[in-house]
Amino acid sequence: MKRILPACTLVLVMAGAVGANDDGGFAYKKAAAVNHLMEYMVKPSMDTVKAYREAGGPSGKEEWQTAFGAVSMVVEAAQLTLMDGRVKDDPWKQGAEEVVAAGRDAMLGAYRMDTDGYAKALKAMSAGCKTCHDVHKKKDE
Ligand code: HEC
Repeated sequence: MKRILPACTLVLVMAGAVGANDDGGFAYKKAAAVNHLMEYMVKPSMDTVKAYREAGGPSGKEEWQTAFGAVSMVVEAAQLTLMDGRVKDDPWKQGAEEVVAAGRDAMLGAYRMDTDGYAKALKAMSAGCKTCHDVHKKKDE
């Protein structure tokens, strides 16, 4: 009987059903400005993604793994824009959530080395960037 609870807990954690804040009492507190998340996390990762695309890739296991890691940084950055009071309005929240969801799909595509799935998800991810940028990014940038 004792074993049932931990097993259930593991299943719940894997299903994401246990509170996202169950992180040992650590409270996330923002350190970076959003334009720095963009400049230092999102942009370098997107530069990698773009370079592969322009070269007709990613191709080969190593490039797919790098693409996976790059997109994972974009997903993390987008999640950070949703945390600790950064959300400003609906387009912000919606755009960031689109980036997170489509970015996860792109990660899956990269994991599977599925060129079409990856490309399609990246397109959806970029739409998420635009949803937020249309309202929140200055036009001259
Ligand atoms: C939740 C809103 C939001 C989302 C989603 C978002 N951005 Fe941004 N982005 C911003 C804001 C805010 C700025 C800063 C605008 C400013 O300071 O004028 C910015 C700025 C940028 C910049 C300029 C950074 C600099 O200062 O050098 C780049 C590049 C950028 N974003 C890329 C992206 C890409 C690519 C995506 C999608 C993968 C994305 N952003 C998704 C809000 C967002």
